[in-house]
Amino acid sequence: MALSIIYARSENHCIGHQGRLPWNLPDEFASFNNITDGKAIIMGRRSYEDHHSVLPNRLNIVVSRQVDYVLPAPMILTTDLITALQIAADYSAEYFIIGGVKLISEGLSQASRVVETIVHTEVNGDTFLPAMDFSHYTSEIIEHHHVDENHASAFTVWQHTRT
Ligand SMILES: NC(=O)c1ccc[n+]([C@@H]2O[C@H](COP(=O)([O-])OP(=O)(O)OC[C@H]3O[C@@H](n4cnc5c(N)ncnc54)[C@H](OP(=O)(O)O)[C@@H]3O)[C@@H](O)[C@H]2O)c1
Repeated sequence: MALSIIYARSENHCIGHQGRLPWNLPDEFASFNNITDGKAIIMGRRSYEDHHSVLPNRLNIVVSRQVDYVLPAPMILTTDLITALQIAADYSAEYFIIGGVKLISEGLSQASRVVETIVHTEVNGDTFLPAMDFSHYTSEIIEHHHVDENHASAFTVWQHTRT
């Protein structure tokens, strides 16, 4: 176990809109919490500002070039991804990049596992991930969730493990 990446995207590769997630899917968030529980998580400054709070029971690391950016304790600020990865590796055997676009793209070449939720909808958002090449990974579905009264879209959770 080492670096992992976790994100949710729409079928047209959207991950965000106006600084927020473009959906409200409680069971998808529960899966995210379950998978990252007890681990170090690394996020860009804008992803942190989506929720403005510590995600509990995890080491929260925020990456920003603003050296004086103020975070609530016990969150950690780093000004580059390499430092964030070093701090995360000291905390837990598996550690996650959780967004946004640049950190996911930069981390992909080092990631041994990618947990990718595909939300089965098209979103007219403002933040998009490029299509990923998982040809060097073994891919399997680990969860599928249907539409119900609390979930306006179905979603499928894929696990891509580097071969
Ligand atoms: N669907 C999902 O799974 C998911 C996950 C996370 C976020 N999101 C959504 O995506 C959007 C935010 O993502 P985003 O891609 O726009 O922004 P982001 O990556 O969260 O944040 C961008 C900021 O992070 C800092 N940063 C990023 N890479 C850096 C590096 N290599 N070195 C130093 N600083 C770095 C910079 O902060 P400074 O400008 O402060 O220097 C940069 O402006 C929101 O809408 C959020 O809700 C979705």
